[in-house]
Amino acid sequence: MRVVVLGAGGLGSVIGGYLAQTGVDVTLICRPAHAEAINKNGLHISGLRGDHQITENICGVATADEAEGHFDYMILAVKSKDTAAALAGATSLIDRTDVFFSVQNNIVKEGDLAKWCGDPAKVLGASTIEGGALLEPGKVKNHMTVDCTAYFGELDGTISPRAEEMAAAFNKAGLVAKAVDCIQQVLWEKLTQIGNASTFAVSTLAGNTELDFVDGLLVREGAEHYVAIARELLSVYTAQGYEPQNFYAPISRLKQIYEIKDNEEAVQTMLGMGKQLQERGYKGTTSMHDDVLRGRKTEVDFIIKPFIEKAAELGLEVPTITACYRIIKVLDNYLN
Ligand SMILES: NC(=O)c1ccc[n+]([C@@H]2O[C@H](COP(=O)([O-])OP(=O)(O)OC[C@H]3O[C@@H](n4cnc5c(N)ncnc54)[C@H](OP(=O)(O)O)[C@@H]3O)[C@@H](O)[C@H]2O)c1
Repeated sequence: MRVVVLGAGGLGSVIGGYLAQTGVDVTLICRPAHAEAINKNGLHISGLRGDHQITENICGVATADEAEGHFDYMILAVKSKDTAAALAGATSLIDRTDVFFSVQNNIVKEGDLAKWCGDPAKVLGASTIEGGALLEPGKVKNHMTVDCTAYFGELDGTISPRAEEMAAAFNKAGLVAKAVDCIQQVLWEKLTQIGNASTFAVSTLAGNTELDFVDGLLVREGAEHYVAIARELLSVYTAQGYEPQNFYAPISRLKQIYEIKDNEEAVQTMLGMGKQLQERGYKGTTSMHDDVLRGRKTEVDFIIKPFIEKAAELGLEVPTITACYRIIKVLDNYLN
């Protein structure tokens, strides 16, 4: 199998690196310094699966035109704000790649890919929660995984051989994955989950570099805020006919929050989750919070705005997330 990753930073390099370890031929299209470091010394992955120095079946290039040959799959992994520019620079891949999928956190990515390649049949639905962060050129950290970390499926609600093939490739690489007949639901639930965590984190912790996700949940008002955001996002998610599944358990608590009708009980559940995570020594920040801390533009328009737009379409009130969206947009306005 040959795979090209368009925009290999944190997540794309982690996925590409692990796939290369199993014999998949991987080309990472990335920034020149990262490409040079990989071609010189290989890709180093640290984190929850230990240390790996991957030197075989992997290469880095700075542009799509430098990626040689035919590919079975292209994985789009730039931040959503960079999608248009990255795809515009990668048209040479369209005719020499069989299948396109994206691991980005947004709900428009499959449509973007279909429009770009001109053939919706070449686009596979995909979602993952696997965590990757670029530390320095040639080095990434794999900081997060869950029991099932990726899902693949056709957008028409079927399971195809290619969805099963990619799930099998991920499983072989140690990234537990499933082919499913409900990828649209997985995508909306993932956005609900990431929207909940990131909206909460940025609106409570803002620019404080000392605090992480758990610190916000240890404060009663933080837990109340988390639940308020969750309830509004869940109202939009479920109004589309979906029942929360916790696809990304045990991190996801959407099903529990949805089922707990009493607000005080939901707040206590989140305070308890904060305590549990603290006791386990969990340290982590959401990627939107990381963006704010690093002075980089966030994905707020791709992660929160879709809920506000969908709510308007469905006639739902979402005052908490609307207020958070406005606050984050102000921060975002001054980021690069
Ligand atoms: N990281 C995670 O844990 C995680 C988990 C699940 C989903 N996601 C989603 O996956 C997507 C990627 O996240 P990420 O954290 O991996 O982002 P990231 O670390 O910023 O990786 C994207 C990389 O692509 C590079 N890039 C941008 N445009 C490019 C171009 N035209 N050609 C070559 N390289 C280009 C970026 O360089 P510059 O920084 O120099 O622009 C960056 O190094 C996001 O939508 C995110 O929400 C992330």
